[in-house]
Amino acid sequence: MAASTTTVRRIKLGSQGLEVTAQGLGCMGMSAFYGPPKSDPDMIALIHHAVGSGVTFLDTSDVYGPHTNEILLGKALKGGVRQKVELATKFGISFADGKREIRGDPAYVRAACEASLKRLDIDCIDLYYQHRIDTRVPIEVTIGELKKLVEEGKIKYIGLSEASASTIRRAHAVHPITAVQLEWSLWSRDVEAEIIPTCRELGIGIVAYSPLGRGFLSVGSKLVENLSKDDFRQYLPRFRPENLAHNTKLFDRVNEIAQRKGCTPSQLALAWVHHQGDDVCPIPGTTKIENFNQNIGALSVKLTPEEMAELESIASADNVKGGRTLSFCNAPFAALDQLDGLRSLYL
Ligand SMILES: NC(=O)c1ccc[n+]([C@@H]2O[C@H](COP(=O)([O-])OP(=O)(O)OC[C@H]3O[C@@H](n4cnc5c(N)ncnc54)[C@H](OP(=O)(O)O)[C@@H]3O)[C@@H](O)[C@H]2O)c1
Repeated sequence: MAASTTTVRRIKLGSQGLEVTAQGLGCMGMSAFYGPPKSDPDMIALIHHAVGSGVTFLDTSDVYGPHTNEILLGKALKGGVRQKVELATKFGISFADGKREIRGDPAYVRAACEASLKRLDIDCIDLYYQHRIDTRVPIEVTIGELKKLVEEGKIKYIGLSEASASTIRRAHAVHPITAVQLEWSLWSRDVEAEIIPTCRELGIGIVAYSPLGRGFLSVGSKLVENLSKDDFRQYLPRFRPENLAHNTKLFDRVNEIAQRKGCTPSQLALAWVHHQGDDVCPIPGTTKIENFNQNIGALSVKLTPEEMAELESIASADNVKGGRTLSFCNAPFAALDQLDGLRSLYL
């Protein structure tokens, strides 16, 4: 499906007035976790291309880099670009004194927000997520501080990432939650049991991260063959040798359907997410203009209920081998050191 024929529609995210593009741009891989950081000028050109193409919902976090992804975004937002975008960032994973921990105490929340505003060089963050929940701090206390930041005009809307249904409910009772970010794709569907229905009941928008299965639903096992040494995906259980051959067969079947439909597997995987409803916004990550162009073409792919069911039967939870999160049992010791910051992120 050619991107040039695609108009990027806009959707309402949550019930507080935030409007974003139906597809966003995940910026993490530009600076972190997926091999070496990419060149700033190239990534700024990509971000400007995305905004020019109508994709204005940009996703980052203070943990990406750490910090360098926000600094990159800060540069890209100069020259009037900031006014054209909806900027989402996240807090909650601290790096003080080389020690990494999840933090949601009020002093930390406030300091993290001030630091992100400075790195992004903006006055207000459109959507500010708690990246991971600090179970030592009642969620009411964390949201209480975020509510103050809304009142002070430092953030516009509040989001949660990887939160349980009960945490979402408790948080929403203190201040309306605009969006929940979670991993949702053709092969990561555990959120459908409890979390998605809770968001829908409360009128909370859903932001689907890793909608391309971290790239596997785009290119299958080729992804794993070409990973650089410092790409953390090599440790994900689904990409380990004992599971890869099996999961590649699933990708091959998805690819067959894509060929039948005259689209690419990436477009098919994204179209499946788009078909979940207009309260769902996938944020595929890419570092290449060519792939970005392909991904927005997914907005033009139409799937029948039969095609949705066929896709779901291929990549059902029973069919996928290996969990979606990082398995430290498999990582060599040196890599664990290097990847220590990911413990809290992906376990
Ligand atoms: N809240 C959280 O805890 C959390 C966790 C993970 C991610 N996220 C957010 O979600 C965003 C997206 O997730 P993700 O980057 O993990 O996974 P993803 O979007 O599922 O996949 C990204 C991978 O797919 C490849 N790709 C993208 N389009 C492609 C295409 N058309 N053809 C071939 N390959 C393609 C990218 O490579 P190229 O760069 O080569 O295109 C990259 O390796 C992140 O950027 C981040 O903002 C949030």
